[in-house]
Amino acid sequence: MTIAPYPAARFRRNRQSAALRGLVRENSLSPADLIWPVFVRDGEGVEEPVPSMPGVLRRSVDRVAEAAREAHDLGIPAICLFPYTDPALKTEDCAEAWNPENLSNRATRAIKAAVPEMAVMTDVALDPYNINGHDGFVVEGEIINDATVEALVRQALSQAEAGADIIGPSDMMDGRIGAIRAALEAAGHQNVALLSYAAKYASAFYGPFRDAVGASGALKGDKATYQMDPANSDEALRLVERDLSEGADMVMVKPGMPYLDICRRVKDRFGAPTFAYQVSGEYAMLRGAALNGWVDGDRVMLESLMAFKRAGCDGVLTYFAPAAARLLNGQ
Ligand code: PBG
Repeated sequence: MTIAPYPAARFRRNRQSAALRGLVRENSLSPADLIWPVFVRDGEGVEEPVPSMPGVLRRSVDRVAEAAREAHDLGIPAICLFPYTDPALKTEDCAEAWNPENLSNRATRAIKAAVPEMAVMTDVALDPYNINGHDGFVVEGEIINDATVEALVRQALSQAEAGADIIGPSDMMDGRIGAIRAALEAAGHQNVALLSYAAKYASAFYGPFRDAVGASGALKGDKATYQMDPANSDEALRLVERDLSEGADMVMVKPGMPYLDICRRVKDRFGAPTFAYQVSGEYAMLRGAALNGWVDGDRVMLESLMAFKRAGCDGVLTYFAPAAARLLNGQ
């Protein structure tokens, strides 16, 4: 690559007007890039704010279906469901996770009935149902892998039965993608997609989410024996390769902004559909600063989302999805 010497090369020429800036723009962001994570709770006609995530609500199933309709009208293609489970339903065996009538499955059916075009993504992990807040079974203080994978398979099958289009294992157990893929094929769910949380870090940025799903009080210890060490990068590539080889259709890097380097490496290496999760703590930081008047909320929102496209992501899971879609649509 050669660059003409100044003044033959003046980079400001291409920036002189909105028309020229638009012509040379390398990346674009549209509502079609967004997956909207939504919190579901019990009741009817309920919308309850999540204190550590201003602007985010826990919605009852009927309200989730309404929200799905609005999201669809905004051009958002997918919703990802996270249940806020009644503490009385949390047990050591996590049986609520594969109850066909649990909140996530009821919300999936309600969305598919109200807005069949909306893709429903569900979360595979035991933490919303686990009395000790972990993503896997805990035996004598250890998060055990293989028995957890069996439970995750049951959970995934119940989600597929309910009509989920995309299943998102967020648990970070070893071997779960292959096990879930085999079980889905055997049960006739060959078209259910797996979006693997392949490179999920043990991050403090999940704090507000654990409040939102009611897991923070429950969690004993941390998740460092199954989620990744934030110091690692090569390991993310090995995990993505492993999950793709086991049958993942898409992969995710999580959290998002602090891990943009990982997004870029993953996309460059594998060229697979790659997503980032702009997690609860990232949302809370941007919203908190905006609400205090310290940054321009709309602009930092769109700038932060464009960063994922620039880093090679095909799309982003973000709590900003409806607000961003409205802005992008000029509404
Ligand atoms: C748990 C799960 C977490 C998130 C999604 N699924 C939290 C965790 O691993 O403790 C975090 C999402 C967010 O912070 O927005 N299976």
